[in-house]
Amino acid sequence: MPLLIQGGRIITPNDDFVADIYCEDQTITRIEQGIDAGSLPKDTQIVDARGKLVFPGFIDPHVHIHLPFMGTHAKDDYESASKAALAGGTTTLIEMICPGPSDEPMSAFREWASLAEGRAAVDYSFHMAVVRFDELAQRQLRAIVHDEGIASFKVFLAYKGALNLNDSDLFGLLAMARELGVIVTAHCENADTIAAMQARLIADGKTGPEWHEPSRPTIVEAEGMRRITTFAELTGAHVYGVHTSCSEAVYEAVKARLRGVRVWIEAVVPHLVLDKTCAEKPNFEGAKFVMSPPLREKRHQQALWNAIRGGDIATIGTDHAPFDFNGQKDMGKADFTKIPNGVPSIQERVALVYTHGVCAGRIDLQTFVDACSTQAARIFGMYPKKGAIGVGSDADLVVWDPEWRGKLSKEHSYSKTDYCAYEGWDVQGRASVVTVRGEVQARDGKFVGNIGRGELIRRKPTHF
Ligand code: URP
Ligand code: ZN
Ligand code: ZN
Repeated sequence: MPLLIQGGRIITPNDDFVADIYCEDQTITRIEQGIDAGSLPKDTQIVDARGKLVFPGFIDPHVHIHLPFMGTHAKDDYESASKAALAGGTTTLIEMICPGPSDEPMSAFREWASLAEGRAAVDYSFHMAVVRFDELAQRQLRAIVHDEGIASFKVFLAYKGALNLNDSDLFGLLAMARELGVIVTAHCENADTIAAMQARLIADGKTGPEWHEPSRPTIVEAEGMRRITTFAELTGAHVYGVHTSCSEAVYEAVKARLRGVRVWIEAVVPHLVLDKTCAEKPNFEGAKFVMSPPLREKRHQQALWNAIRGGDIATIGTDHAPFDFNGQKDMGKADFTKIPNGVPSIQERVALVYTHGVCAGRIDLQTFVDACSTQAARIFGMYPKKGAIGVGSDADLVVWDPEWRGKLSKEHSYSKTDYCAYEGWDVQGRASVVTVRGEVQARDGKFVGNIGRGELIRRKPTHF
């Protein structure tokens, strides 16, 4: 059905103007002032956006939905994650495929893709995590890039004995990624030092969630960022540091960039608004906030916001990794190293960044839309299909009510976890209409769309 969005204030990284947007056959076909609704097909759906902001659909470049991890499985599936994403204004997800150390990459790709197909209501793609790099894996990774439309890899410099890739395989992978034009996203920490420090803390009886951060301090993350950027310098690969939590890691990336390394930085919303004291909450409640890299001292939040404002940090994602408090997080009651790592945020991201970024005066609207949508599309080979409001772009649009005020809560969340990390928090602004390729999928914080509408976005390598 054709769609006309009337009179909204259109915001992109380069534009701020009032116009009507007409969409047909899943794409934007006209952007003009005063489109005459009477001249359009009779079945055109009309959305009154006067007094509202209109953004390109938001993109979350870092989510976990199917995630076998730390002896359990993350709680969401594509249905719950899509509903949560859309209710918050996110129309495209990039999920991490995280196979086990002996799994074949191609069968992992097929497993993850089959779980999304027919069940997603958002459009989606995958970063392919590389946890082994033998000959068979290399052959299959090339096929995943050439035949399946995947244009980004993921490496973990953390999680010893599970997802971690050793340095010689990391070097080989970066060399291959350079040849293929594939960007390598990286979890930057040091698996061996973390394992050693955790063993020491546990032996000393320091077993609660408050010891998670001291077991992987900022210097450990900075070392990971320095290592990935050093290897990128040696191989010419393009790299992207995920969920960067502290100023030390940002400095390492910026220093490398000044040497000519092609490195992008991602922040995620928990590090921007939560701090280390959350993991220190009594009665094991801190476990709700155990993620890696950990929540840091509050001073790092301002450094991250400043880096977003200045363009040193390109994107804001979530690292949505949903585990229940009861039955999953409590697997680590006697030992914090067994708490499944992750904080669910897929529904809350956009409102939190709008409230604590735009409304708090830390970033402007252009930076907001750039960091939460356009940059991810550009870096990961989806622009201008995604992340743009232009003729020919997919009609993924968010009509945003900047005046709405409300609270975040588990009650209004579609994620399946038994808690909301931002329970009771005040937010300003809400997605009043959300479209995916021209179909309304969410209204006023509620999913109203079609499960199964979401499509796999086939991407081509762009990092040559
Ligand atoms: O704590 C986190 N970040 N959990 C998900 C896995 C990862 O490292 O991204
Ligand atoms: Zn990670
Ligand atoms: Zn992650």
